[in-house]
Amino acid sequence: MFIESPRYTERFGSVRMNHVQRVISLDSGVKSKLPPHGAMGVVKIDEETIKYFEDRMAIVIPVKDEKLKLFEGVVSGVPHDCLVIVVSNSQREKVDRFRMEGDALDQLCRFTFRQALIAHQRDPAIAEAMVEAGYDDLLGEDGLVRDGKSEAMVIGLLLAKAAGKEYIGFVDADNYFPGAVLEYVRNYAAGFSLAQSPYSMVRILWHYKPKISGGLYFRKWGRVSEITNKHLNNLISSKTGFETEVVRTGNAGEHAMSMKLAEILPYASGYAVEPQELVSIFEDFGGILPTKNIKVMEQGIDIFQVETRNPHLHEEKGDEHLQAMLLSALGTIYHSRLCGEEAKQAILAELVHQGALKGEETPPPIHINAPPKKVIASKFITAIQRDLDKYYVLR
Ligand code: GDD
Repeated sequence: MFIESPRYTERFGSVRMNHVQRVISLDSGVKSKLPPHGAMGVVKIDEETIKYFEDRMAIVIPVKDEKLKLFEGVVSGVPHDCLVIVVSNSQREKVDRFRMEGDALDQLCRFTFRQALIAHQRDPAIAEAMVEAGYDDLLGEDGLVRDGKSEAMVIGLLLAKAAGKEYIGFVDADNYFPGAVLEYVRNYAAGFSLAQSPYSMVRILWHYKPKISGGLYFRKWGRVSEITNKHLNNLISSKTGFETEVVRTGNAGEHAMSMKLAEILPYASGYAVEPQELVSIFEDFGGILPTKNIKVMEQGIDIFQVETRNPHLHEEKGDEHLQAMLLSALGTIYHSRLCGEEAKQAILAELVHQGALKGEETPPPIHINAPPKKVIASKFITAIQRDLDKYYVLR
């Protein structure tokens, strides 16, 4: 593929945050010559490089009661060499939707000779493995893993680690276009190939996010993302003294990380998870607050934001859902140790204006799950490997 070279990079402490890079062309052929690196501001990422990273990558698909057709489409879009890990929180009573997902996955894997893992988030065996490994952050009062997309992401991450993967990417199960899923993963690989540090992250920005209202309207910005980005940029500006627009992917559900970075980050519950990743990176490696990870600080963190060619069409879940998402997203910034009084006031005003808070209210505290590095990996892997066969669809 051809992608814009990272033209401008903003640095905060040891964080290298790259401005958005557009995908110029989805394929660059095998015959075309490699242009000199960065010629005309474009980089060629060859197929071999993309395949190298795909082979080392697990793609985690969190799913909760999505239409089966959409789920199947998403799985079919994941490049063949990636390990697919489905973490489901779908209903089991009456209609066993989890079973239906398992059957569909099994069939796709049989047809295409590939492996995949599927687990249910509320499976007691997962909770037990967490306890054995000394990591009970994800567990609720009933002793099982709590509901939430973020919790599914952490389970997926631990399964990917148990399977020996070096990179992990996330793709929502409600994407309408399998071709877009294929592109997300190729973009992840492209970003990783450009990283200087073993601690890297790739976040997807959609070219367009169409809305169906009468006709099809190709909207550029989601309502929540626009506001989240503004306040994340404010947070940075309030510390550097220079206004910035570098953050364009604050809510990116589709994103990927090197395992080395993924396991040292904390994960906020629910939909706060994506903005919290950035807030935590700024807190730990932005050079303003002291860090516990000196070694990581030395190598730096590379963040890439890649704009796709494909539009993103997914299930719309209504205004209430968007308000809850906004409240969690801005809550992560409001409760950050970096957030000063002025930035806090701006967030409160925004939330009241958007109808997500009333007059004197403040955003509720965010539940943050400790970095999975805290998991005694060997114990989790032993516990889960006893059962790992059960999660592989074809065994
Ligand atoms: N396993 C699991 N457990 N999956 C879940 C859960 C859960 O409790 N809740 C939601 N999911 C799955 C959904 O089935 C879907 O595949 C994905 O997580 C995203 O959830 P949605 O509820 O569809 O979120 P959204 O589409 O409104 O928002 C997405 O995009 C935002 C950016 O625009 C999410 O990825 C957000 O996290 C993201 O910020």
